[in-house]
Amino acid sequence: MSDIYLALVHSPVYNKNMEIVATSITNLDLHDIARCATTYGVKRYYVVHPAEAQRQLAKRIMGFWQEGFGAEYNPDRQEAFGRVKIAKDLAQVYAEIEAEHGTAPIKVATDARKYANTVTYAKLREDIDTMETPILLLFGTGWGLLKEDVEKMDQILEPIYGPTDYNHLSVRSAVSIILDRLRGH
Ligand SMILES: C[S@@+](CC[C@H](N)C(=O)[O-])C[C@H]1O[C@@H](n2cnc3c(N)ncnc32)[C@H](O)[C@@H]1O
Repeated sequence: MSDIYLALVHSPVYNKNMEIVATSITNLDLHDIARCATTYGVKRYYVVHPAEAQRQLAKRIMGFWQEGFGAEYNPDRQEAFGRVKIAKDLAQVYAEIEAEHGTAPIKVATDARKYANTVTYAKLREDIDTMETPILLLFGTGWGLLKEDVEKMDQILEPIYGPTDYNHLSVRSAVSIILDRLRGH
């Protein structure tokens, strides 16, 4: 069984004009994805941001729930934040996972846009169940990961679609649906 890791990328991502930007870390993404990651047994949820001030902000938000009043008031949040790590860039994320496993993670991009050569949820789930190689799922913010970055990844998960053509999910919803498809009972 492969260990699953998540990375939430804040830069570089697209804005609505498809310009390359950095987005801000949001309280909701920290809390909701941490709780989802804990529910589905994700090994670590990396929150990736190049700006020191943003990383400090995220640490302060989590710090409130990890010690003192916040931790007493809601131990569930403390537990969920126990598997969150703030990282400067993806290179740091790749290096840490490789150091832990002695092998590089299989990098799997997610996107609402269609790409050629995507992997199905059934296939990735089977790989997770049968392999030992760690899996790193990459999620974007803003209007998504850069096309050239998605195409550089080892695999691209097929986009989530319902019975309509609309599939622009919030990242929190996308993480929930994807983890349930890959790890749900
Ligand atoms: C584009 S961002 C949108 C973020 C938005 N600003 C928010 O409030 O969450 C959402 C990220 O969620 C994932 N995502 C969104 N819709 C998806 C879909 N239909 N299929 C697969 N992944 C999706 C991708 O990782 C994408 O980069």
